Amino acid sequence: MKRVALLGATGSIGRQAIEIVEAHPQLELCAAASGSTPLDDVDAPLKQVGGDLADLLEGAQPDVVLNAVVGFAGVHATLWALEHGVDLALANKESLVAAGELALAARERGRGRILPVDSEHSALFQCLEGRGTEQIDTLVLTGSGGPFRGHTRAGLEDVTPEQALAHPTWRMGPKITVDSATLANKGLEVIEAHFLFGVEYERIEVAIQPTSIVHSLVRFRDGASLAHLGYPDMRVPISYALTYPERAATPLPPLDLTSLTLEFSPPDTDTFPMLALARAAGHEGGSAPCVYNAANEVAVAAFLERRLSFLAIADVVEAALEAADGAPARDLRDLVEADAAARGVAERGLQPA
Ligand SMILES: NC(=O)c1ccc[n+]([C@@H]2O[C@H](COP(=O)([O-])OP(=O)(O)OC[C@H]3O[C@@H](n4cnc5c(N)ncnc54)[C@H](OP(=O)(O)O)[C@@H]3O)[C@@H](O)[C@H]2O)c1
Repeated sequence: MKRVALLGATGSIGRQAIEIVEAHPQLELCAAASGSTPLDDVDAPLKQVGGDLADLLEGAQPDVVLNAVVGFAGVHATLWALEHGVDLALANKESLVAAGELALAARERGRGRILPVDSEHSALFQCLEGRGTEQIDTLVLTGSGGPFRGHTRAGLEDVTPEQALAHPTWRMGPKITVDSATLANKGLEVIEAHFLFGVEYERIEVAIQPTSIVHSLVRFRDGASLAHLGYPDMRVPISYALTYPERAATPLPPLDLTSLTLEFSPPDTDTFPMLALARAAGHEGGSAPCVYNAANEVAVAAFLERRLSFLAIADVVEAALEAADGAPARDLRDLVEADAAARGVAERGLQPA
């Protein structure tokens, strides 16, 4: 039996994870957490709404933590799992982006293992099969381009939250859906890939593949490229992370090759500056990725509340990055301070939509 602690059990990933756990006789929920939504319909011996996730994990002693919390709030659970040598099935990319250096140090000490749930990183993980970075030429993260692919900046001036939330290929929570529309999601994923696979930013590319069938690919030094294909359905990477190294059955139909359209194009970084800002934050290092993430969380929330225009999300993040000193966080306390300071700057920078 593998005992799973599911954090973010009421969200999009959380609900799909419950489906996977219920279908697999070797998986059982030992704990479940949400931020504020009641967990009445979740069957787990330990349940927590709000409160300290590390406390819950101490009590639950899971074999695997599925961190499906949205945003920086997931950082304590990520660090707890890595520090305690517990497998971390990681959907909560924001925690690895914000706390990358601390997370790697915690993993080194605790010998915890990160099993990526983000579909692109799950794809890369599977293509790499643990091969050393010296064998890699480039990692290519694919993205659908979001609902505004092909738009110009002028065409994005008045877009509404409803339009941004209409993702063409994935059904996800609101924050990541807006991130997909701004390409901040791809920016976060570039930083996530850097920390997960130890590959420098120059060798992490982004390609737009509108039907989300190719989930990412690795170009190797011998000229071979390995890609991961499948229908866009998060139950596959969730199942893979929870049952690794097994490939358990899922209810998905086999891929019908004759129905596929596979076209690739480069991302439009002029229209969507959040990708370039993420790369800049990644290159700067230190707490810059934490600042990028914090300011983005504030700006996305303001956009969803109609207090900020879509295009101004990037302005808020850019201003927060300029205002921050980017000093590395020595510990979690430092990091929480850097996150809070960046949120303060971003809040002050909000312009009425
Ligand atoms: N959805 C996808 O397909 C997808 C794909 C790849 C990666 N991801 C990543 O997975 C994470 C979750 O995404 P999602 O789409 O599932 O988001 P979501 O639907 O908005 O769900 C977020 C979950 O986090 C919980 N939560 C928020 N703050 C919390 C806190 N302080 N303590 C405990 N739980 C808290 C929420 O609880 P409440 O219900 O109480 O608010 C909810 O259960 C994100 O990092 C996202 O980037 C998602």
